[in-house]
Amino acid sequence: MTRLLEPPGSRPDLDRGARIEVRSVSKTYRVPRGEVQALLPVTFTVEAGEFVSLIGPSGCGKSTLMLLVAGLLQPTSGEVWIRGERLTRPLTDVGIVFQDHLLLDFRTALDNVLLQAQIRHLPRQPAMETARQLFRQLGLEGAEHRYPRQLSGGMRQRVSIARALIHDPAVLLMDEPFGALDAITRTQLRHDLELLLLERPKSVLFITHSVEEAIGLSDRVIVLSPGPGRIVEEIVVDLPRPRPVELGVEPSFVAYADRVYAIFKQWGVLKV
Ligand SMILES: Nc1ncnc2c1ncn2[C@@H]1O[C@H](COP(=O)(O)OP(=O)(O)O)[C@@H](O)[C@H]1O
Ligand SMILES: [Mg+2]
Repeated sequence: MTRLLEPPGSRPDLDRGARIEVRSVSKTYRVPRGEVQALLPVTFTVEAGEFVSLIGPSGCGKSTLMLLVAGLLQPTSGEVWIRGERLTRPLTDVGIVFQDHLLLDFRTALDNVLLQAQIRHLPRQPAMETARQLFRQLGLEGAEHRYPRQLSGGMRQRVSIARALIHDPAVLLMDEPFGALDAITRTQLRHDLELLLLERPKSVLFITHSVEEAIGLSDRVIVLSPGPGRIVEEIVVDLPRPRPVELGVEPSFVAYADRVYAIFKQWGVLKV
């Protein structure tokens, strides 16, 4: 059995997440009438416990890259390494959050989360305790027995985050998780996610369209070119945590945002 499948507790780096290495990974999809080149070779690392955002225009290959890191797609070239091992099948030590919450309508919020624990054969009682703790940290107390349709969009995304974290994975992958939410809810969730990760560090790969979100959350922001994407810049965000919710007015924040917008203008992503 490889280390990727070891139970929690036997992992030496449990508290910090796992190092993700993306080595010259590219993807070309085969379609009935030929090929679609979705991603040019990209190379980057997410250190254990680091929060890295990928930002780039629609269609540049961000979701493709996330599926490659999850081991749910095979790269056309290159390799993904997790905690020093080459990924050859779907990663198990991972939590994934998509833009669409993908909760089961006929299960309560708590049961949606516990289902993950059940699928992963986690003992019920500790899983229940972790779920309760996550519900508390995510401001979901009182929502345990409600069905997804009885929750707001923001609450549903909070439940999907709890579901992604119930097994305390080393890696958290988030594909535009706040993309469908209003600005205030997004800001609140960004702040709550940051606090949660300060308590439970993970290696996070976070995809977003939002410059503010990328800089607000990340240790490092990777900017991708228009599709087929390649890395055009990596920006280290050296701002203390937890970051204020009204980050947009801080001069240091504005300087980082200006750098991203300058790249977008240079690449014709923003025409001004
Ligand atoms: N399963 C697929 N089959 C064929 N082409 C795909 C598939 N998934 C994505 N693509 C294409 O690959 C490119 C990158 O898509 P995607 O990774 O979804 O980009 P992003 O998430 O940045 O918007 C797009 O041109 C898209 O149409
Ligand atoms: Mg996408």
